[in-house]
Amino acid sequence: MQVDISRDAKLSKIDHLFVLLAEGKHDVDLPDAVRNAIRESKFEGRSDEVLTLLAGEPRKITLIGLGKPDKITHRNVRAAITAAGRTAKKHRDPKIALRFPYTLPRMSDDETTLAIADALAQSDYKYDAFITVRKDQKRIPIHATLIAPKGDAKKLSSHAKAIAEAVATVRDLGNTPANIMIPRRLAERAEEVCKEAGVKCTVYGKRDIEKMKMGGLLAVNRGAIEEPRFVVMEYAPKKAKQHVALVGKGITFDSGGISIKPAEKMEEMKFDMCGAAAVIGIMEAVAKLEIPVQVTGIFATTENLPSGSAYKPGEIITMMNGKTVEIVNTDAEGRMILGDALHYASQLKPDHIIDYATLTGACVVALASDAAGLFANDDDLAQKLIQSGERTGERLWRLPLWDEYKDLIRSEWADMKNSGGRWGGAITAAVFLKEFVDCPSWAHLDIAGTAYSESENAREARGASGAGVRVTVDFLQSLSRS
Ligand code: BES
Ligand code: MN
Ligand code: ZN
Repeated sequence: MQVDISRDAKLSKIDHLFVLLAEGKHDVDLPDAVRNAIRESKFEGRSDEVLTLLAGEPRKITLIGLGKPDKITHRNVRAAITAAGRTAKKHRDPKIALRFPYTLPRMSDDETTLAIADALAQSDYKYDAFITVRKDQKRIPIHATLIAPKGDAKKLSSHAKAIAEAVATVRDLGNTPANIMIPRRLAERAEEVCKEAGVKCTVYGKRDIEKMKMGGLLAVNRGAIEEPRFVVMEYAPKKAKQHVALVGKGITFDSGGISIKPAEKMEEMKFDMCGAAAVIGIMEAVAKLEIPVQVTGIFATTENLPSGSAYKPGEIITMMNGKTVEIVNTDAEGRMILGDALHYASQLKPDHIIDYATLTGACVVALASDAAGLFANDDDLAQKLIQSGERTGERLWRLPLWDEYKDLIRSEWADMKNSGGRWGGAITAAVFLKEFVDCPSWAHLDIAGTAYSESENAREARGASGAGVRVTVDFLQSLSRS
């Protein structure tokens, strides 16, 4: 929904006002109508306590409990706001307002306001581009006013809008079915987003990719009829002191190839381009927010399909950086295309490289959908990213990159194998990527568990989540301040 931030709202024009309240912490700045409602309804603020009352101005008030004051955390509040958005949608109320009368832990008033606006903007999200019959399942346009008595409302509104649009870009790209979101289309969408945001975008086709000798990307692409693309997006503000390269995995559909996946849930593999989508969304946000850091967004994109021309187990592939890889599992394709993309990024000699990839099922086994796996060759970068993750509610959990793990991908016939087997699967994938990184400050985010949700949950709709955008924007902003 569209969110505007305002010092107050004309309650007579509002269909539905939502107020979030913690238990025993009601001595906060609230409109009189709400004070009366709380008093008369005996609303306490327990978690999961939701009470809708018919008022006058506004027409309806819904009080949403947050539980004990120590439960006022980023993730809990996001769930409460999603409940508000879903309620507004169910009631088909076109004009709503929301008041969160607290500050989030370790955040300033402005940061709190932005986090609330962000959650509110996404709260009614649903990918409904292909719903033609059940029109009632379509989103009705909701306009929300976030009441925030402090701060520069105009500035905060435009900041919130930039993040909301970028996250929606990533969610829409991820949710679009794989018959539409083919590599050519993903590259076109990158061009469109860049054009709108004022970012330079270069799309390389198959011939260019061959000339650059991107052996990993070409090997994975061999099974597909659709051609691969390699995309470079450049945002270079004059005042920038640092350069960060972002790299994304853009497998628009991962069948596993010759090492084919089981049929169950294979449809979820349309989300295997969410790393590339995140990079596109981050470029959009960075440009719209005019963050004073040079950012280069890079992604490689192809389908991974079986066919008579597909790459096979036992093949040895020479990558762009000259290293050779023995293919033992064609389903370990993400690292093949990322290996080339990371080498390309390293050649630009940026200060930091961050990659985003729905890389391994093993990472989901380890962390479920509550945190992304973080791997880094630089402790300082890792700490900064973890901090940004805590602040934005996009949790990252660091896993090791010790040299011993290299033994697991040792090959008899080539420089390495493309899979180390089941044990430590997320780690061996990251160790493989490291072989293609030539940069002292690199981080790899395995977003296989966080990029999409398999079912609707308290915080978000089913499907792509927009993972990567918020944590990275926060990191880039902290970098620009240091
Ligand atoms: N795209 C998958 C990883 C994945 C799995 C993402 C589940 C989201 C949900 C990746 O290409 C893959 O197939 N990885 C294999 C690697 C293995 C063959 C070494 C895996 O995790 O099983
Ligand atoms: Mn795979
Ligand atoms: Zn994959």
